[in-house]
Amino acid sequence: MTVKFNQVTYVYQKGTPYEHLALADIVTTFEQGKYYAVIGQTGSGKSTLIQHINGLLKPSDGALEVDDITITHKTKDKFLKQIRKRVGVVFQFPESQLFEDSVEREILFGPKNFNMNMDEVKVRAFQLLLEFGFNRDILEQSPFQMSGGQMRKIAITSILAMDPDIVILDEPTAGLDPKSRTQIMEMIKQLQTEQNKTIILVTHEMNDVAKYVDEVKIIKHGKLIESCSPRKLFSADEYVNEMHLDVPDIVKLQRDVEAKYQFEFGHVALTESEFTDMYKEWQADEG
Ligand SMILES: Nc1ncnc2c1ncn2[C@@H]1O[C@H](COP(=O)(O)OP(=O)(O)O)[C@@H](O)[C@H]1O
Ligand SMILES: [Mg+2]
Repeated sequence: MTVKFNQVTYVYQKGTPYEHLALADIVTTFEQGKYYAVIGQTGSGKSTLIQHINGLLKPSDGALEVDDITITHKTKDKFLKQIRKRVGVVFQFPESQLFEDSVEREILFGPKNFNMNMDEVKVRAFQLLLEFGFNRDILEQSPFQMSGGQMRKIAITSILAMDPDIVILDEPTAGLDPKSRTQIMEMIKQLQTEQNKTIILVTHEMNDVAKYVDEVKIIKHGKLIESCSPRKLFSADEYVNEMHLDVPDIVKLQRDVEAKYQFEFGHVALTESEFTDMYKEWQADEG
């Protein structure tokens, strides 16, 4: 399903002294099966943007289309239930919202609310837990005796158990150890490549943007200022610098090599294997 923002504006606490314009006139589209990153500095409006996609926030002005449903400030909550099942959101630090005393109850809570087929949900959830490296007896355990990384994986599994078409993740690996980060990022990529899910990742990790993402949307002061491929973004060194964005390690390596040999490759490589191929080809040409 496609998500279209048609001039979406969002104002927090409208009409009070705390009034704050968080999104201004956003026009953009998210297509089914693509992997998006939403990036921008803290306070730029990333979390506000994504909360519109599953109807948690409604535009103060403008409209968004999620599949065949149009959401405006007038849309009643009862029309949004459908969307909340199909758009799964993993919030920042989702482990802080765990509350059931067993992993099974935690994971089944959401799907029960949506009257889903519990057998299918259990099979799907169990498969995900095994892929995350948990043992078979995980379902009876209490999430509260686990490490932060494990709790995060349980929280993510509980969203994915609902089999949403669109999976939105707000900094899903923040504060985790490298192994858990990689496991989670690989799992998310697999959802896109094997199940054609739309992924919307809010992140500050430019290594992840380079490695996994199809399209980057940059938010600044509540405005969408750029929508482009990671390759285009990371080719524009000056722009990346101006925007105070990190440079992916692989691009840093390429720039170092280019400086060393006083030479520039035709484009930036975004993965190690891309860079290795490009480097070998160049060496072969040089004889
Ligand atoms: N409940 C709220 N009331 C007033 N202002 C808010 C509220 N939530 C967020 N904001 C403000 O809206 C802006 C965008 O916030 P947010 O979408 O959380 O940014 P980001 O996720 O990019 O860090 C920030 O300036 C933030 O302070
Ligand atoms: Mg945020």
